[in-house]
Amino acid sequence: MATIIAPSILSANFVHLADEVKRVVEAGAEYVHVDVMDGSFVPEITIGAGVVKCLRKETDAVLDVHLMVEHPETQLESFAKAGADIITFHVEATRHPHRVIQKIHELGCKAGVALNPGTSLSAVEELVEDADMILIMTVNPGYGGQKFIESMLGKIHMLYHMIEEMETNCDIEVDGGINAQTSVDVREAGANVLVAGSAIYGAADVAKAIKDIRGNEIVHHHDDEEDYDE
Ligand code: DX5
Ligand code: ZN
Repeated sequence: MATIIAPSILSANFVHLADEVKRVVEAGAEYVHVDVMDGSFVPEITIGAGVVKCLRKETDAVLDVHLMVEHPETQLESFAKAGADIITFHVEATRHPHRVIQKIHELGCKAGVALNPGTSLSAVEELVEDADMILIMTVNPGYGGQKFIESMLGKIHMLYHMIEEMETNCDIEVDGGINAQTSVDVREAGANVLVAGSAIYGAADVAKAIKDIRGNEIVHHHDDEEDYDE
């Protein structure tokens, strides 16, 4: 599966957001990752639906909205109307994750389900069939520029096999600490949508940073399980 690169605008200069988005899309990024924080599910407050509405007018790229908010069900309509293409919510933030997926689909968007590092894959086992994407957080959500948590590689690989065994289609997105080095490991483990904030916006040459994170296409073999602690 071809790798999709999703620069996180959390690391962009918010004063020049339209230009910052165009810069990464022109450099080859397929998605634009929008980190929405509510000051409750995570400590900081970032971007609301109003900003997504403005960005929608500036770009045709896929707007990949990552809701780090409590009660995500209350926010779906405004982000869908604002022009989000993918809405990802945290499984820890709602009692009815399956209903949230249904609602996102009714609103005409793709549905993603995110898991914090401390949340077991079992939390999404019953959702994989209906979700379009599972987001494995490779840092604890809340801030850009944190260190990649190595032990998430086994989780990514387990999810990859879960999806294969179910014979369903579901993207595996990773978010947090992704750079040219960690990208190799997550792609080998089975991730195909890579979010990167500081590694892209912090780079002198954005196009090179995106190319380096994308790397060479990886062919998955069925006998590679022993590489991971599962
Ligand atoms: C973290 C956000 C990420 C963040 C990634 O809470 O969800 O999208 O921007 O930043 P880096 O790539 O710098 O770890
Ligand atoms: Zn994110």
